[in-house]
Amino acid sequence: MNILVINGPNLNMLGIREPGIYGKEDFSALEAYIRRCAEEMDITVELFQSNHEGAIVDKIQEALGRMDGILINPAAYTHTSVAILDALKAVALPTAEVHLSDISVREEFRRFSYVSLYAGKTIYGKGFLGYREGLSWLCDQLLPE
Ligand code: DQA
Repeated sequence: MNILVINGPNLNMLGIREPGIYGKEDFSALEAYIRRCAEEMDITVELFQSNHEGAIVDKIQEALGRMDGILINPAAYTHTSVAILDALKAVALPTAEVHLSDISVREEFRRFSYVSLYAGKTIYGKGFLGYREGLSWLCDQLLPE
């Protein structure tokens, strides 16, 4: 089982960026954590991070026929990107959305997510653990009983 894990803009700044909200661990620690989770679940992950909306759209399109599911933290594009929503709908793969912080209790503009209009599962406010939960949900969707 192949899962594409996408991290959007500014997540490469983890550890430096607003540590009170996003934690002190850096992006390489997040990637190592995701790889460990994947190993434990016996699945393959491809990790992708970009600060560019079009690059994320391209990556989602490339997943068609190659990947079995998508785990995405669209970061700020969560709240703005119809293009990312449309790309996810176009490839129509099982998709889980994850956010490190609790977007439901922050600024008003973070409460709406375009990606949630397609994602089968949205996890927020659980830090790194949310990525584990997202991968595990995807496994449940994809593996036969
Ligand atoms: C985020 C929440 C978004 O609102 C924000 O723009 C991010 C990160 C999170 O993981 O909590 O960049 O997706």
